[in-house]
Amino acid sequence: MPKYIPEPFRIKMIEPIRLIGKKEREAAMKRAGYNVFKLHSDNVYIDLLTDSGTGAMSQNQWAALMQGDESYAGARSYHRLKAVIDEIFGFKYFMPTHQGRAAENILASVLVKPGDHIPSNMHFDTTEGNIRARGGKPANLIHDDAYDTAKRVDFKGNMDIDKLRQYIQEVGVDKIPFGMITITNNAGGGQPVSMENLRQVSEAYKEYETPFIIDACRFAENAYFIKLREPGYENKTPLEISQEMFSLADGATMSAKKDGIANIGGFLAMNDETFYEKARNELIIREGFPTYGGLAGRDLDAIAVGFKEVLEVPYLEYRLGQTNYLGERLLEKGIPIIEPPGAHAIYIDALKLFSHIPQHELPGQTLTIAMYLTGGIRAVEIGTVAFGYVDPDSGEEILPKLDLVRMAIPRRVYTQSHLDYVVDTLVEISKKRKEFRGYRITYQPKLLRHFTAQFEPI
Ligand SMILES: Cc1ncc(COP(=O)(O)O)c(C=O)c1O
Repeated sequence: MPKYIPEPFRIKMIEPIRLIGKKEREAAMKRAGYNVFKLHSDNVYIDLLTDSGTGAMSQNQWAALMQGDESYAGARSYHRLKAVIDEIFGFKYFMPTHQGRAAENILASVLVKPGDHIPSNMHFDTTEGNIRARGGKPANLIHDDAYDTAKRVDFKGNMDIDKLRQYIQEVGVDKIPFGMITITNNAGGGQPVSMENLRQVSEAYKEYETPFIIDACRFAENAYFIKLREPGYENKTPLEISQEMFSLADGATMSAKKDGIANIGGFLAMNDETFYEKARNELIIREGFPTYGGLAGRDLDAIAVGFKEVLEVPYLEYRLGQTNYLGERLLEKGIPIIEPPGAHAIYIDALKLFSHIPQHELPGQTLTIAMYLTGGIRAVEIGTVAFGYVDPDSGEEILPKLDLVRMAIPRRVYTQSHLDYVVDTLVEISKKRKEFRGYRITYQPKLLRHFTAQFEPI
């Protein structure tokens, strides 16, 4: 039995949850068009849809809310957040945004032109969406290890440097306004990127004079993996490791709903003054004045405290330990997941679990539906529905290499017994796996189709 590291906190406030009956779950799922995003949260028992904005704030964060300064310009809350962001991330400029995709939108609106190409290890869906919405083409240049779900590699989020260099030469530097990397790699299992890889990526982008932007959503979790796994970093603090990671880049997009342990917020940061000025104009038109960026002053204070707490070792030890516990218990029971377990989520390999369902019949989507109907658990498909698309040039349906179901673990919310319940539910599904049949899409929008698509059983 894997070890469960006890929570480094005790519970002071509770939020009731309830498992509704099987018949009610079936009716709710039908009403939702077999898309878990359309379920009413009252009808969900264990909600692992996302770790984004779903964390429990600490007593210090709640206290900080009361200190919020709601001045339109130059608020104390802004300056408190700025001091923390300057210390951890160290970029010359930053602007708050209401969440990560707002930062991505500004980044793409200022820098991406139709026909541009944006490399990364793996873009997340909103990043891809924002690049495509401006006529750009995202490219995922992760190391091939990432596609072998059962292979245990310490830094499975690493960019393949040879692929990156070849890509830059093929596409042409003038078509690449900036390059990215996502830490940790959410779309590929929440896997970390090593400092060595970040350094190599940084050097490659520098050589071609391409600005390097880090998608920093889970920077603290990535830093802790580096501390645990990369020689030379065992005695450094997560803060020192984070500072070193960001010193290699020219800017960052951030969703504070992840490693800000806040319910809303994000930022865009950069070193280049011209980029900053253009981004600031976009921010003012779409988000708000640069000292609040679409957030309330109190949100900025909650984020400032969250950024400090997320770097504490007892928190990170428990956080990674909890996810590892869920992953290793599932493996013990023969449920195929991306190995080794990442930090914020466990990803089930639906193509393996439901090997009798062909990929175009959506095994991952089938599993999310099965998890809800069997146990009232909400997880999310990040495979064929989330990343499949019709190529605008060829008209061809492009299927991603992996068909995964992500169980994201909200920060400081669920306990060991909740995770044990999740394991039991998946064991029940696995035992009768051959009884499940696939689904087909009956409605889909052009971009980010998984949020609103509708399905029917085949
Ligand atoms: C890696 C990554 N980038 C960007 C985003 C977008 O952030 P937000 O949901 O705050 O818009 C997410 C959210 O899940 C993410 O995981």
